[in-house]
Amino acid sequence: MDPWIYSSRFGNWENRASVRNKPPRILAEASPATVFFPPEAVPAVSDPLVAERGPAVAHRLLVHALYQYLHFTTVLEQVAVLPVTANISLDRSGVPGLPAAMRADAFKITTDEAWHAQSSHDFTERVVAVTGVAADAVVEPRFAHLLARLRDGFDPADRPLVDLVFAVVSETLVSSLLADLPFDRRLPEPVRALVADHAADEGRHHSYFRAFLRYLWPRLTAAQRRLIGPRVPELVEVFLHPDLAAVRSALTASGFTAAEAETVVRRSYDRRSPIFDIAPAARATIRAFHEVDALEDPATRDAFLAAGLG
Ligand SMILES: [Fe+2]
Ligand SMILES: [Fe+2]
Repeated sequence: MDPWIYSSRFGNWENRASVRNKPPRILAEASPATVFFPPEAVPAVSDPLVAERGPAVAHRLLVHALYQYLHFTTVLEQVAVLPVTANISLDRSGVPGLPAAMRADAFKITTDEAWHAQSSHDFTERVVAVTGVAADAVVEPRFAHLLARLRDGFDPADRPLVDLVFAVVSETLVSSLLADLPFDRRLPEPVRALVADHAADEGRHHSYFRAFLRYLWPRLTAAQRRLIGPRVPELVEVFLHPDLAAVRSALTASGFTAAEAETVVRRSYDRRSPIFDIAPAARATIRAFHEVDALEDPATRDAFLAAGLG
């Protein structure tokens, strides 16, 4: 591999970071016709059982989808990303000899992520106040309990490596929501601006974690690479798979019985639907792992291919 050189994209962080340069995004008003989330991302709203109850119910489901998306962001940052960048900044990541500039930039990412978590939380409170739709149907994001379970399957000594690699995966994925919401003119301007602020910061984080992986991977032992490499597709799936428990919860909070919610989910979340196709959002992550030759290991390559991420 080429001699490893870290080139920081955080030199102008003071003038670029959302937390330093963007105003709090505040929703001032909404009407029953306001579209809070792209309906295509919530196939339940097109189900006949939902449609027959009228537009107010669909509106409510889209508000719930926004709450769940914002909560996902808050939990991801606080649970999975910020602890890792805090460890990197303090040189406690277990990765020896990280360049001082990478540790310095990890402080900036920690600050960015704390702001993303906070601003997502604050925005939710604002939408509750403006719409009158309570956020009490929000559930623990699917990724959080699956990641905890997956992590528990590793030896305690290997769990910090799982944390590092999940941070790399989640920070190099480009979710379609983060990419597309800022340009969706159906949505209220403050929603679009909030997500655009986040996406701009994530562009810098993406380069950082790609560089971090280029530093990390050759320094792992062969045994460590064989341990974590084949599990990377699972980490991708954990992040990107639709959260059907959250959809059920939004449906029951919107007046459907548990049985009706189950019917809606079964009918509208067809496994062949584009929302289950995780490969497009994972493209940059796959590239990052290719770049470090992770897929030269047969077990890792097979796992990527089996997950449709080859
Ligand atoms: Fe973030
Ligand atoms: Fe990030």
